[in-house]
Amino acid sequence: MTIDVSKPSIARMYNFFLGGNDNFSVDREACRNLLAAAPSTREICQINRHFLKRAVHHLAADLGIRQFIDHGAGLPAQDNVHQVAQAANRDARVLYIDNDPMVVAQGRLLLDENDQTAFLDQDIRRTADIWGSAEVARLIFRDEPVAALFVSVLHCLTREDNPWALVHDVVSRLPSGSYVVICQMASENEQVRGRLNDYLCGLEDRWGEVRSFDEVERFFDGLEPVGEIGEVSRWWPDGYATPRQTSWEWVAYGGVARVP
Ligand SMILES: C[S@@+](CC[C@H](N)C(=O)[O-])C[C@H]1O[C@@H](n2cnc3c(N)ncnc32)[C@H](O)[C@@H]1O
Repeated sequence: MTIDVSKPSIARMYNFFLGGNDNFSVDREACRNLLAAAPSTREICQINRHFLKRAVHHLAADLGIRQFIDHGAGLPAQDNVHQVAQAANRDARVLYIDNDPMVVAQGRLLLDENDQTAFLDQDIRRTADIWGSAEVARLIFRDEPVAALFVSVLHCLTREDNPWALVHDVVSRLPSGSYVVICQMASENEQVRGRLNDYLCGLEDRWGEVRSFDEVERFFDGLEPVGEIGEVSRWWPDGYATPRQTSWEWVAYGGVARVP
């Protein structure tokens, strides 16, 4: 698959907001427009990334999780999931999934020499294909707890995609004692949601939807929260210095939960 530089990509825009160089002028222009509509966007991307690292570290270091499935992995950044997990537990295995061609190419380059990881070029909505893949067969032991990560990716799925059913489907495949990590952009203000959703839909890539807090909390139905489900800069436990948000059009909202 070729990299399309004629329209912005969510992975490359996120990379720009995190201070990376893997983005093109079309991405940067879309980011500037998004910042004009929602000045906190850069901050919440950074808060989201900190949350991802803190959650993975806690799962690997404190809860003994040795296998991770990262849905919507994004472009390599500082402290990628396998690096955080393997720093805590060098046996940790990580399966990354994404379907952006630049993410897949760069992810595979990064993982070339790490045989406890794999990068699957797949749409996260294709759960059956993912769980039937050779990569899952090689890396994920079915009788051992898994951490399924959905960090800053569920907002890319629309209501018609039914991301709640997707999370439920994945959870139903995990053994008891597994964990789910979920974080997505959310706002309690209906007008803000409407305004941002109109803008995001115009971007052509899969930005999906900003959701209400209640809609994000529904992803955790039937699960046992580990710490608070809420604005993730406040998520416990806090091993890193987490940036704080200075304007509040929307927030990164979610948490960690155990599969009973
Ligand atoms: C904002 S980035 C998040 C990266 C990382 N999870 C993080 O939180 O730091 C979202 C990623 O999800 C990917 N993505 C969006 N929809 C997807 C889908 N349906 N299937 C696979 N990947 C998807 C995008 O390509 C992008 O790389």
